[in-house]
Amino acid sequence: MGEYPYHFTDEMKCDALKIYTDEGSHAYFSAKLEHEIRECYGLTLKIDSFANEYFESLEDHLNGIPSCRKDLAILSVVIVAESAILSDLFSKMKRIVYEAIRQIIKLHLMDEAFHANYYMQILKHVWVQLQNKDKIVMRKLIKDAVRISCRPRTKVFEFSLTTLGFDTFTINEILSQTFDESYHRIRDKQRFKSFNSKKIMLGLVLV
Ligand SMILES: [Fe+2]
Ligand SMILES: [Fe+2]
Repeated sequence: MGEYPYHFTDEMKCDALKIYTDEGSHAYFSAKLEHEIRECYGLTLKIDSFANEYFESLEDHLNGIPSCRKDLAILSVVIVAESAILSDLFSKMKRIVYEAIRQIIKLHLMDEAFHANYYMQILKHVWVQLQNKDKIVMRKLIKDAVRISCRPRTKVFEFSLTTLGFDTFTINEILSQTFDESYHRIRDKQRFKSFNSKKIMLGLVLV
C-alpha cells in the first residue's frame, strides 16, 4: 500500500477478507429485500441513478488526489464510511418499529460495529508508521472524507418530490430550507464529535 510497507499481520488480512465477504452478504440481502418489496407493491421505478450522488462526490475527490497520496485518501474514506454507517444505522434502528426489519438492521449493525472497530485498529497501526508530513495530509484527508459523508443527498429527494407532483420552485424551497447553513454546521459538528468521542481519531483534533 503506497510508499510504506505497513506490515499488516495475517489476522488483519483475514479480518479484511471477512469484511469483504460481509459486504457481499449485505449487498445480497439488500438486493433481495428490494426485489421482495418491488414484487409485493408492484414497483417498477428505479432510483439508482439518483442515489449515486455520494459515490460521484467520492470519485471526484479521489480523482483530485495525487497518486502518491491515493492510498491514504482511500483509507481515510473507508475509515470514515465504516464509522458513519454505524452511527447512521444506529439512529435509524431507533425509529423502526416493524420487528422483521429491526432484526435485519440489528444484524447489519453488528457487522458494521466489527468493521468500524477494525478500521480504528488499522488507523492506529498505520498512523504510528507515518512520517509527520503524511500525518498532516491524513488529517486533512479524514476531514475531507467526513465532509463528503455529511453532504445531503438531495437528488433522490428531488426525484421523490417530483414523482409526488411537487413543482421545481416548491422542491427548491423545501430543500434549501431543510438543508440550510445551520444544517451543514450542525451535521459536520455532530459527525466530527462522534468520531472524536469514539477515539477513532487517536487524539487528532478535528474540530
Ligand atoms: Fe455493510
Ligand atoms: Fe461495512
